[in-house]
Order: sequence, then structure tokens, then C-alpha cells
Amino acid sequence: MEEIVDAISRAAVRIKRAIEFGDTSYSKSLNKTGDTQLKLDIASDLIIEEEFKKTLCVKAIISEEKETAQTLNEDGKYIVGYDPLDGSSLIDVNLAVGSIFAIYEKEADAKFITAAVYVVYGPRTEMVTAIDDVKLYRLDESSNFKEIKNIKLNKKGKLNASGGTQKGWADYHKKLIDDIFADGYRLRYSGGMVPDLHQILLKGGGLFSYPSTTDAPKGKLRLLFEVFPFAFVFEKAGGKAVDGKKRLLELEVSHIHDTSPCFFGSGDEIERVLNEYAKH
Ligand code: AHG
Ligand code: MN
Ligand code: MN
Repeated sequence: MEEIVDAISRAAVRIKRAIEFGDTSYSKSLNKTGDTQLKLDIASDLIIEEEFKKTLCVKAIISEEKETAQTLNEDGKYIVGYDPLDGSSLIDVNLAVGSIFAIYEKEADAKFITAAVYVVYGPRTEMVTAIDDVKLYRLDESSNFKEIKNIKLNKKGKLNASGGTQKGWADYHKKLIDDIFADGYRLRYSGGMVPDLHQILLKGGGLFSYPSTTDAPKGKLRLLFEVFPFAFVFEKAGGKAVDGKKRLLELEVSHIHDTSPCFFGSGDEIERVLNEYAKH
């Protein structure tokens, strides 16, 4: 696992530089989800591929920016699913973005997730690893990630990050979100799941939701490289992650680019979600 975290750290330093000084324009290609790729999405994907190629333990990689899985080393133990640049449409407005990694053993399946890592490129570059516990690292002046602290969620938080096109929300979802705001929660939503979830994790808790909507019935966020890794992080930090009815880490994947509605948060907020959704 150390070899994988090292590869991610090296990739993160290179991606950070690419974000700061690279070409931020769009390419002519679409990815599997139908998004027009930024040149930076493609560059970040290649950087990560290059760094994983230097490891022996990565058997295959599955990227948001690649149509199919790519085998690197038949004898490797791990399959890594990743979103090389999450929130890349926020680059032109200079908001924080991230990279997300899920490390699977045997198969790319929630049952086999053994670790998750994400990197936030903000005013500072930070990395969070969830292996046995959840640890925050920060990039120092010598381009090394220095351990800062462990991350643990409170039972209840104060922040509400509610995603998805609101006019496409179900009535009961709207009621859930309205009730949460009515209880004094504050809106925190930048449109980048990495900084939005990072904020909830570091400020002790709250709720992030990306529900089923009429325009995206299966949500928007992808299971293998966005939803499962964050579900793993939240559970390891003492929080919960569900699709409205069940644990996200119990969902099956039929295609590598499958998506799911998702809710991440501390215990109390997720209980509210489950209670409201159970009625429908
Ligand atoms: P990506 O840039 O990898 O396509 O993902 C962006 C994701 C995620 O970061 C964010 O939470 C969500 O899209 C935002 O979607 P909306 O603009 O629909 O809120
Ligand atoms: Mn993404
Ligand atoms: Mn992406």
C-alpha cells in the first residue's frame, strides 16, 4: 500500500504543477460519461498512469477518463479506480479541485475496497488516506506530504452540501433538505465533491447529497472512482455513506462507469436521510 500512496504523492505534485501552469483549455474529445475533456483531465490521467506504471503492485487501473480498464502488471495485487481531476470545470474560476483513488483487491467491486486516497488542490495541497484510519497530510515546501492529524467525524455536524438540479429533485428529497436547513444547517457547496466532502470531514460533519433527479435518475457521481472511495473514507472516519436506502459499499457494479445517488455524512444526518427515504 505504501508503494501506491507514494505513487499518488508523486502524481499529485505533478498534477498540482499542471493545474498551476498547464494549458487549461478544452480538448476535442469526450470521455465515457459524455463530458468534454479538458486538456488537464487528459494530462492528469497520463501522469497517474505513468506513476502507477512504476509500481509492481498495481495490476490494473480504471480511470474516469479511459473507456476500459487497463492492465499494467498481471502479477500485481491491486486494482486502482481513479478520477484524475475531479471538479475540473471549476478550474477556469480558480476553485479547488481534486484527485480521487479507490484501491481494490481481486476485483473492482465495493466488497474488495481496501483503501481510499484523495488529494485536494486548493490554496494548499492536501492528501487524505483511509487505510486503517483516516489521516490528513499537507504538501510542504520540499514537495513532501507531511502528516498533520487523524480525521474523525462528530456524531452530528452543521454543514449541508446539497447537489443535483433542484427542479429535478423528488418532493421528499426537497423536504429532507428543507428540514435540515430549517434546523440551522448552513449551505456549503462549491460543485467539487473533493473540497465539499473535505470540508465536511474537517469541520466535524454534516451532509453531502447528490440524489436521483429527473435529469439524472441514477445520480451523477461514479461508483468506482468517486462514490466508493469517499464511502470508504467516511465510514473509516466514523461517518456513514448510503444511496438513500442502503450502504453505498453494498452496491453492485455492472459497468465501470456506473453512477449512483449518494449521501455522505456523519451518523445523525445519514439517519435522517434513511428515515425520510424509507417512507418512499
Ligand atoms: P468531474 O469534474 O470529475 O466530472 O466531476 C464533478 C462532479 C463532482 O465533483 C461534483 O460534486 C459534481 O460533479 C457537481 O455536479 P453539479 O454541477 O451537478 O452540482
Ligand atoms: Mn469527478
Ligand atoms: Mn474527473
